[in-house]
Amino acid sequence: MPVIAVTKERRAGETRVAAVPETIKKLVTAGFSVTVEAGAGDGASYPDADYKAAGATIAKTAKDCVAKADILFKVRGPEADEIAALKTGAVVVALLNPHQDKATVAALAKKGVSAFAMEFVPRITRAQAMDALSSQANLAGYRAVIEAAEAYGKALPMMMTAAGTVAAAKVFIMGVGVAGLQAIATARRLGAVVTATDVRPATKEQVESLGAKFVAVEDEEFKAAETAAGYAKEMSKEYQAKQAELVSSHIAKQDIVITTALIPGRPAPRLVSAAQVASMKPGSVIVDLAVEQGGNVEGVKLGETVTTKNGVKILGTPNLPGRVAADASALYARNLFAFAGLFLDKDGQFAPDYEDEILKAALVCQGGAVVHPQLKA
Ligand code: NAI
Repeated sequence: MPVIAVTKERRAGETRVAAVPETIKKLVTAGFSVTVEAGAGDGASYPDADYKAAGATIAKTAKDCVAKADILFKVRGPEADEIAALKTGAVVVALLNPHQDKATVAALAKKGVSAFAMEFVPRITRAQAMDALSSQANLAGYRAVIEAAEAYGKALPMMMTAAGTVAAAKVFIMGVGVAGLQAIATARRLGAVVTATDVRPATKEQVESLGAKFVAVEDEEFKAAETAAGYAKEMSKEYQAKQAELVSSHIAKQDIVITTALIPGRPAPRLVSAAQVASMKPGSVIVDLAVEQGGNVEGVKLGETVTTKNGVKILGTPNLPGRVAADASALYARNLFAFAGLFLDKDGQFAPDYEDEILKAALVCQGGAVVHPQLKA
């Protein structure tokens, strides 16, 4: 019976866990044996007893947990001692952050194991249930609005009271992928007046269908600014200048700005300058979801709230899905459950088919070498 190990996350501030009792049950039914490190679910409010009741074995230490595993499931990349404890032929599945965390990918390659980065799961129909970028970005978009609302000293919805009217907050979402769309929906539910921008033309209709207004320079470059995979391209200097001018006058009137713009494999694009921040009213709030990829906002600091001279707060909170840890873990764990199915052959034996389109796309290292085309030097 193939053995899956789930260890406790140890990177600073990581509250999520790679399996929840519900997915343990499903994995056991599918023919896996699952070992969970004691306390692995504590940060996400899943106690050991619930894992045990669902059919998992509890291991005292990470080393004990990993030693017999065919598959190690993690949220973030494993630590050196976990890698050292892996047996030959084991596979590792995690959000490896492969473009940035090259040291972990190199350590996994050196150990000779096969490692899969959930970030590289292709966005094809068959892999939809495994799309961890989407499951986590969706919650990040939601949580960004909650963080902004908390830091903002006024209400979001319009309120008509006997003491007078409270104006609705103006919220501007920059970058409308999965996170941005959820941020729009959440801000609308809270009663804000929402506008949004993106460089991909397809987003205009999506923004409008959520009841928000689209703001962008819609020139020829904009009309062609989407890759075949549905991602954003890096825009020309000329386009960025035109867009910045349009956005400048808009930002000055906003109460809350949420930025989510990413370009896969590249540093996050700079969308908001210090001058634009300075144009905002005191008490305004900016949440930069791209802070871990370098940030979209000039002056953002990872893990800090910066208050500018003119009283604007810039939130650089990392790992927003980790602030909705129970749900984020449950969704990620379901992504991994779907992925685990790819490791079994027809008879339920551990026999990954490395020719499978999804496994092939997500494989970052194997046989002692880094094999992913985007990571090879
Ligand atoms: P992402 O996280 O890579 O980037 C976030 C957003 O930032 C994107 O919408 C991107 O266009 C935007 N952006 C980049 N540079 C910008 C700039 N300079 N100014 C303004 N915005 C900028 O995006 P995410 O959320 O991964 O979505 C990417 C695409 O994948 C979308 O088309 C999405 O609908 C699609 N998708 C497809 C799925 C599927 O087919 N299974 C599942 C999830 C997403």
